[in-house]
Amino acid sequence: MAKEKTIYTCNECGGTNPKWLGKCPHCNAWNTLVESVANSDAPAKNRFSALAPTAEVTVLGDIEAADIERTPTGHTELDRVLGGGMVEGGVVLIGGDPGIGKSTLLLQALDALQRQGKNTLYITGEESGAQVALRSRRLGLDHSKVNVLAEIQLEKILATLNALHPDVAVIDSIQTVYSEQLTSAPGSVAQVRECAAHLTRAAKSSGVSMVLVGHVTKEGALAGPRVLEHMVDTVLYFEGDTHSQFRLVRAIKNRFGAVNEIGVFAMTEKGLKGVSNPSAIFLSQHSEPVPGSCVLVTLEGTRPMLVEIQALVDSGGPSPRRLSVGLDRDRLAMMLAVLHRHAGVACMDQDVFVNAVGGVRITEPAADLAVMLAIASSLRNKSLPKGFLAFGEVGLAGEVRPAPRGQERLREAAKLGFSIAIVPKANAPKRPIEGMEIHAVERIEEALNLARGL
Ligand code: TYD
Ligand code: MG
Repeated sequence: MAKEKTIYTCNECGGTNPKWLGKCPHCNAWNTLVESVANSDAPAKNRFSALAPTAEVTVLGDIEAADIERTPTGHTELDRVLGGGMVEGGVVLIGGDPGIGKSTLLLQALDALQRQGKNTLYITGEESGAQVALRSRRLGLDHSKVNVLAEIQLEKILATLNALHPDVAVIDSIQTVYSEQLTSAPGSVAQVRECAAHLTRAAKSSGVSMVLVGHVTKEGALAGPRVLEHMVDTVLYFEGDTHSQFRLVRAIKNRFGAVNEIGVFAMTEKGLKGVSNPSAIFLSQHSEPVPGSCVLVTLEGTRPMLVEIQALVDSGGPSPRRLSVGLDRDRLAMMLAVLHRHAGVACMDQDVFVNAVGGVRITEPAADLAVMLAIASSLRNKSLPKGFLAFGEVGLAGEVRPAPRGQERLREAAKLGFSIAIVPKANAPKRPIEGMEIHAVERIEEALNLARGL
């Protein structure tokens, strides 16, 4: 049996060193060396690897592209973000704030899979078996056949996976798992990285579909090294605000499906339920239009959704604040500069707050136009008309650039009763859309002038 030895691996370049150092001797990055395990026999063997016969090379066109077999979980919204279902040997990392519903969703998914005749295993490191049972009762899964293992030691988990050979296994959470090979504490970067690597390898070699639950840091990133995201096939994040009933799961990486695909769920008394038609849940219900509000049709993933953007511009102190919830703050600063330079809208001495309603996070630049119209509307204290919406990217030169799949966005809005829109010129439909008055613009000043006159 190979002897294991502790070495230090750089998180940046992957270089190794026998001792811990503040600075990586290979790439000169600071504080990147973390403890890991090396097989001490391996280097000796590697010395001769150059002499070994090479493996066979195949022409790409000759390799048979096997269709990926997917097992739908039966939860449509979860399957949507997974790209159709769980994949054999595929590893999914799912992150999110505490209490957002990670354990709930996965327990529901495992139960659904078990009912389809799959062998499932839920490994809990955070809660006892009794607590998991309590949750399952609450979810109405009374006679669930899901196997539960309360264990945090990696070696025992691997042995159980080997013995039970489940089709689907969930590790809740990867931060609680520790390996005896390392001296660092559970949850440390070294432990998380090493355990995830072992579990991923086990999943790939045995064909188990695996889900790793990951904690997020205060900044919202997955705790542990970025290599965690590189190691796995799919990375999902829970978004949304724990105070609202709605939860979004977004795929930010997916080797087996589209990225930025969003699944929408509602947290109910009996767990998470998929929201199949989420178009209009991110709108607040104003009886009359209010200043500082503009509706945006966003296309995150494959589905258009209507989201209300709210802005509040109010006189600020000597160093005015710019805050955004659900939108990128740097982009907000950029938009304020464009508004000033190209449209004469000055907010230099004003506090500016913007918010995407419902805790949804908007990453696409097509939100720019709606954000700017909302800011101008708040500054002038004049509301946009009823049934109004906008989308389009705004460049630094003040030009309004088209958004992908504009027609689809407009059709979705028309379906929900929206009747007037400002859109980029290239997105203006060739044939009119029934019930929708569309204004096409090329420049931001044009859009603001138009909005003022509506
Ligand atoms: P949980 O799945 O434990 O979150 P995580 O694993 O991400 O930390 O989510 C628990 C929250 O969801 C908790 O605040 C209670 C609430 N909840 C419901 O509203 N309904 C339910 O049926 C369940 C099981 C939980
Ligand atoms: Mg949990």
